[in-house]
Amino acid sequence: MTTKIIGTGSYLPEHVVSNDDLAKLVDTSDEWIASRTGIRNRRIATKESGADMAAAAAEEALKDAGMDGSEIDLILVATCSSDFQFPSTACLVQKAIHATNAAAFDLSAACSGFLFALHTAHAYICAGIYKNILLVGVEVLSKLIDWNDRSTCVLFGDGASACVVERGEGLYSADHGMEGFVQWSDGVSGEVLTCPGRKIENPWKENDSETEYIQMNGQEVFRFAVKKVPECIRQVTEKTETQIETIDWFILHQANSRIIQSVAKRLGVPEEKFPMNMEQYGNTSAASIPILLDEMNKKGMLQPGQKIILSGFGAGLTWGAAQIEW
Ligand code: ACO
Repeated sequence: MTTKIIGTGSYLPEHVVSNDDLAKLVDTSDEWIASRTGIRNRRIATKESGADMAAAAAEEALKDAGMDGSEIDLILVATCSSDFQFPSTACLVQKAIHATNAAAFDLSAACSGFLFALHTAHAYICAGIYKNILLVGVEVLSKLIDWNDRSTCVLFGDGASACVVERGEGLYSADHGMEGFVQWSDGVSGEVLTCPGRKIENPWKENDSETEYIQMNGQEVFRFAVKKVPECIRQVTEKTETQIETIDWFILHQANSRIIQSVAKRLGVPEEKFPMNMEQYGNTSAASIPILLDEMNKKGMLQPGQKIILSGFGAGLTWGAAQIEW
């Protein structure tokens, strides 16, 4: 058995915020942001909830797969910016798409969330538990950002994307689908990228936490990403006994173009094999990998038999890579 992606879909908010728009809010410039990150625009949710975006992406992925919500056995939503503490976004999506036969839950692994969800789905499928699984990556990071902090507010965007995966035959075989996977976490180094939740608020509280917004040591995150991403890509290709030069596409988390360029250089792979779209959408965390995958799918860039590496990295710290055959 293996896991095949059979449908993709995305939803991005209509409202576009450019670097020039941000320069009216904080002391920054298009030149500074674009040269250091590759980002020029991002979409910001002005009326859509995370669940609205996730459900719209899910509907499109189901349509692409030629399936109905009732055929889905499990809904996994990767997010670190859910609308509610509970119910989960996955349960809100279940309601919206009438997936009455599904179990549903959220998964939190920040920017690696979609990769970790894909692996979780693969494990369920290989265990013979579920056949059709809906995966969604969705973020409304705009509500976790301090819009007065120029070091973080320029980086992120909102959006959602979904994939339908189904059980195919042949475990890690030449069959289309998942060929191999690695995933890692390092909680010890997690303080370089954090976003606190709600403060303790009860009559016995002893202290207040400081801020509820995203805080990041950018240079440490950069160092982490350019070391761990090539490492895990090498690990997964060793596991599948694949030569790196035979990989057709490297679809990486879209945090920063300089990170991706550095990964390409360290692997000795031409940059053309690393598609990027952060210029238009910024860093959409758990949604970034499936948004790019869906974009490439819709443009007809993905051909049957092509080998693709997906790699995510982010808060936790968390990182991982999957090798799939399209
Ligand atoms: N506009 C203008 N100046 C800025 C801005 C801004 N938006 N942000 C910071 N600066 C200033 C700083 O205040 C500092 O000024 P100073 O020298 O007077 O103190 C100067 O620019 C340099 O700051 P650094 O933080 O050293 O800037 P750096 O060159 O490291 O670039 C960046 C920052 C782009 C965040 C870089 O560290 C990076 O790419 N890190 C990777 C982190 C990342 O991509 N995170 C995304 C989220 S995590 C994830 O998805 C995994």
